[in-house]
Amino acid sequence: MPPGPSIASPTAQPSALTPLRDSPPPASLSMPPEMPLETPPVISSTGSRSTPAPAPPTEALRRVAPTTVTINTPAKPSAEPTGTPRLSVHGLSAFFGGSCAVRDVSVVLPDRFVTAIIGPSGCGKSTLLRCLNRMHETLPLARVEGQVMLDGQDIYGRAVNVTALRQHVGMVFQRPTPFPTMSIRDNVAAALLTASPRPSRARTDEIVERALRRTALWDEVKDRLRDSAVGLSGGQQQRLCIARALAIEPEVLLLDEPTASLDPLSTQKVEELVYELRRDMTVVIVTHNMQQAARVSDRTAFMLGGELVEVAPTTTLFTTPHDPRTEAYITGRFG
Ligand SMILES: Nc1ncnc2c1ncn2[C@@H]1O[C@H](COP(=O)(O)OP(=O)(O)OP(=O)(O)O)[C@@H](O)[C@H]1O
Ligand SMILES: [Mg+2]
Repeated sequence: MPPGPSIASPTAQPSALTPLRDSPPPASLSMPPEMPLETPPVISSTGSRSTPAPAPPTEALRRVAPTTVTINTPAKPSAEPTGTPRLSVHGLSAFFGGSCAVRDVSVVLPDRFVTAIIGPSGCGKSTLLRCLNRMHETLPLARVEGQVMLDGQDIYGRAVNVTALRQHVGMVFQRPTPFPTMSIRDNVAAALLTASPRPSRARTDEIVERALRRTALWDEVKDRLRDSAVGLSGGQQQRLCIARALAIEPEVLLLDEPTASLDPLSTQKVEELVYELRRDMTVVIVTHNMQQAARVSDRTAFMLGGELVEVAPTTTLFTTPHDPRTEAYITGRFG
């Protein structure tokens, strides 16, 4: 594949996870509690096994999914990663007490790629995602084995500053989680408010505006930035939470079903944003919506029963899956 320069030449690697940045980092985002689950929608058979030739995601969108979203961003030439991965998982298992939720998963998450994680409810998608920024260990009885390497450093290493880690690996949860006592502006600026040195008020306003513009929320809230965030609609709140995660400019963004509670228009805006974000960062998105995975991702991982069954370029996975279990799932025969 002819990768872009950013893939062939990964960004500079931090020497340790504690300092992590030259510029003043904001404090980590407060992480909300686990979100409730949702029943996955069943989609009809892709019917696309007769067209096995790989195609970029935009083409996948046209063939695999009904065109409910128009993606204008140029597709990557290929979804085969090269160069140093930003994030890689090695033999990762995650437990709740004696129960194993993620079993011996190894996967590479390339820089400036969107990787979608799909699979039936309860297969371990959220748990795997939480392991990528050490949120799993915040849950009762939770335990992790294995390695998660971020820019060559094990995030489970003893020297790692977890707060700093989460500035680099941001996360957005399935349900919107605005800070209820804060204004719209302060929600987006939340991580910046405790940064050291703290950005000036004017600089903070710039960052807030940019983040809100990226999530297509600016025009809707620019005249009520001082109002409480809980006054926003659910879709607006979710885009606010994405803006909050983007304000600290993470290198990796983890999205757990970010459009599960959104209307079609908000979903479209978030999908377009996700597709665009891969220019700047590594994105991992959990979704029950296979059409969404086809629309926004370069690579897709299929999980089942805590195991990673296969990961492949999105078009390949949806047209010529390697494993019969993947085929059964994407054609709606289970899950
Ligand atoms: N806090 C918890 N305590 C105990 N077990 C949990 C907890 N959270 C999840 N589990 C279990 O871990 C397994 C994986 O759950 P996980 O939430 O990762 O699945 P998922 O693939 O994200 O499902 P969904 O698509 O429904 O969100 C399930 O069996 C679930 O019941
Ligand atoms: Mg989940």
